[in-house]
Amino acid sequence: MCGIVGVVGAENTMGVLLDGLSRLEYRGYDSAGVAVYENSVKIIKSKGKIENLKKKVGNLSIPAGCGIGHTRWATHGEPSEVNAHPHYSYRKKVCAVHNGIIENYKEIKDFLLEKGYKFYSDTDTEAAVNLIDHYLNEDPISAIISAMKRIKGSYALAIIIENKQDVIYLAKKDSPLIVGIDKEKSYIASDIPAILPYTDKVYYMDNMELARVEKGKVEFFDINGDPIEKELHKISWSIDEAELGEYDHFMLKEIYEQPASILNTLKRYIKEDTIDFNSAGIDKNILSKINKVRILGCGSAYHVGVVIQNVIEELCKLPVRTEYASEFRYGSSECSKDELVIVISQSGETADTLFALRLAKSQGAKTVAVVNVVGSSIAREAEHTLYTMAGPEIAVATTKAYTAQITVCMLLAIELARVKNSINEGAYSKMISEIKEIPDKISKILEENKKIEELSLKFKNLQHAFMIGRRMDYGICLEGSLKLKEISYIHSEAYPAGELKHGTISLIENGTIVIGVMTQDEIIEKTISNLTEVKSRGAYIIGITYEGNAMISDACDKIIYLPKTFKLLYPILSAIPLQLLAYYVSVGRGLNVDKPRNLAKSVTVE
Ligand code: AGP
Repeated sequence: MCGIVGVVGAENTMGVLLDGLSRLEYRGYDSAGVAVYENSVKIIKSKGKIENLKKKVGNLSIPAGCGIGHTRWATHGEPSEVNAHPHYSYRKKVCAVHNGIIENYKEIKDFLLEKGYKFYSDTDTEAAVNLIDHYLNEDPISAIISAMKRIKGSYALAIIIENKQDVIYLAKKDSPLIVGIDKEKSYIASDIPAILPYTDKVYYMDNMELARVEKGKVEFFDINGDPIEKELHKISWSIDEAELGEYDHFMLKEIYEQPASILNTLKRYIKEDTIDFNSAGIDKNILSKINKVRILGCGSAYHVGVVIQNVIEELCKLPVRTEYASEFRYGSSECSKDELVIVISQSGETADTLFALRLAKSQGAKTVAVVNVVGSSIAREAEHTLYTMAGPEIAVATTKAYTAQITVCMLLAIELARVKNSINEGAYSKMISEIKEIPDKISKILEENKKIEELSLKFKNLQHAFMIGRRMDYGICLEGSLKLKEISYIHSEAYPAGELKHGTISLIENGTIVIGVMTQDEIIEKTISNLTEVKSRGAYIIGITYEGNAMISDACDKIIYLPKTFKLLYPILSAIPLQLLAYYVSVGRGLNVDKPRNLAKSVTVE
């Protein structure tokens, strides 16, 4: 959503802020700003990317004991320098940056206008900053608590208070905030990559907590103002993982990291050819009580659910439903106590998914989160968490986290089937040995990248594309279609292959590109028929199937072959060529692959 960074005690405060914002730019990039504090607060803001802010700061050597910075994904108030953060209160006593949404900002603003406050921006944040200012006749912690008790919505706030040298105050509700400590310096951020170059020791803040951050030390408080002790965590990621290296884009780096990310994920959960979820506190006593499954997520995480629903139905013979987290929250179907709710989220901070998790927990379901970011809100609030070992994913379009999520959920489905005795030991062992081969098979697909790059040329001036498949192949079409849309801006639609003829086939005309994903033998012939229907209307057909499948040759103009594997594992492989295709089309169109327009890496607002 937005990126927050701050530092206390650094020799080069401005340098740390600008470096941190560059590392967080994937969280939002329509405007940015910094505030540094020595004897007075100096604020520098700019519209557009961090580079514009860096140019504005130029060689200003501003001595500062502390500073805060922000890169914005606009929610209230258009992207502009005026609306960029940090925001300063009317009485110039409070300066802050904010990630989240103040839902009752109008009510707060009206209250403050009556008190004589004046506002300069269209943001909700300015209302929160002035509300803290309003209560500041108390000490800062009490003033912030008073404001928190009045604010409705979500916020990660980093606050500098007049006459409080070398101190940053923090307040957290439903938006991420971490605090890093290193000797005489302290760092704050929305996400790990911003402070990883400086420290690997962090605290994760929880909801309705506050903090006072000083040089090399931090004190935490609860909403009553009572001090609380928190656990110091060690970050396992390396800084190299969060840097571009020799790649042109983070997305390409992360596509090519998939053999390693899947291998690391498998190593975490397969011990001596047996699935082991003890690290998440999941054992057969828990799984044996499960009689139905629900999968919740947004975007690509939801697409994982569409794929895995098929796997669980086939292997476990249990009822499964996959829902958009944002839809589940307002539905009327209640979870039951014998229901396993799998909540999928790369960032672990997606607001729709976090609130869906809370609702499922309140209804008594057994909740398991599948998350990539250690210590994230969803990871901390779910009853059990299965981490994907994909490492930091910087590109806005997910790739390695997505395939790692499928892998973890596949293992969960296999283990659930074994516990429910719906598969025998032979099938279990075969699937384990097959899934261990997946990293090498991904490497084999990646070796064919030049063919995909060549194929991407056909999409250069394309306006529309369709992707069709049945059952789990449809789930892959959803993901491939989203990849193409979000980074190349081509309008692409995914359809269950049997559905296209019920209306949308009217859009097919000469030269329309239709991609058919066909990995499931028992339904390939049906999809071939659907492809033939559109081919006869002028469509150009690209088929994705496994090596040696001769059935589709006549129906397709171009075929991408996947290494053979166990049929239920194809979704991990068939996603790869579609990721590469979207990447090369976006590059070919000269677009910003890693930071597509209007998007942010983690959507922490509803
Ligand atoms: C993925 O390419 C998209 N950028 C987006 O759909 C993403 O999957 C979705 O916002 C969910 O994010 P999460 O996995 O961090 O919850």
